[in-house]
Amino acid sequence: MQKIAIYPGSFDPVTNGHLDIVKRGLNIFDKIIVAILTNPGKAFLFTLAERMDMLGESLKEFPGVEIDTFDGLLMDYAAQRKATGILRGLRAMSDFEYEFQMALMNRRLNREIQTVFLMTGLKWIYTSSSIIKQAAQFGGNIEGMVPPLVEKKIQQRYSQIAAAK
Ligand code: PNS
Repeated sequence: MQKIAIYPGSFDPVTNGHLDIVKRGLNIFDKIIVAILTNPGKAFLFTLAERMDMLGESLKEFPGVEIDTFDGLLMDYAAQRKATGILRGLRAMSDFEYEFQMALMNRRLNREIQTVFLMTGLKWIYTSSSIIKQAAQFGGNIEGMVPPLVEKKIQQRYSQIAAAK
């Protein structure tokens, strides 16, 4: 039987840290479904379609990866997709409390599906989509932190925003 994991998140946008977790996860699971939460209540830099496109393009050479979206409870979606695992990356200690809380609640909701935490590569320990966006917004160099196509998209988006002001 295929071992399927869901890798859920906002991915606004995908970073090299996310890609590192997917690649590590493929050593454990046969298939990873990267699932973007549809959350109309939150303000994102990129639309859902743009985030899907960037993920799809960045992971196109991995046949074991699917990109999808979900709403509602993660555990309902995971059961519907017949997943046995939820994949999450851990960076610094600061991630732990939030992740621990979420994993315990998710376990309470469905005891058949296990959350699996993978440590990101050391290079990505202090990076996140938010910190990368913040640096890019003020002209900081983000080369090597996101795939080149994402770097270009971030720069374009901030130029559009600046031009509209
Ligand atoms: O990239 P993020 O924003 O840290 O991802 C958070 C995400 C999408 C994993 C989390 O918000 C989530 O699973 N939301 C769906 C609602 C849900 O099932 N929450 C868990 C019960 S506490």
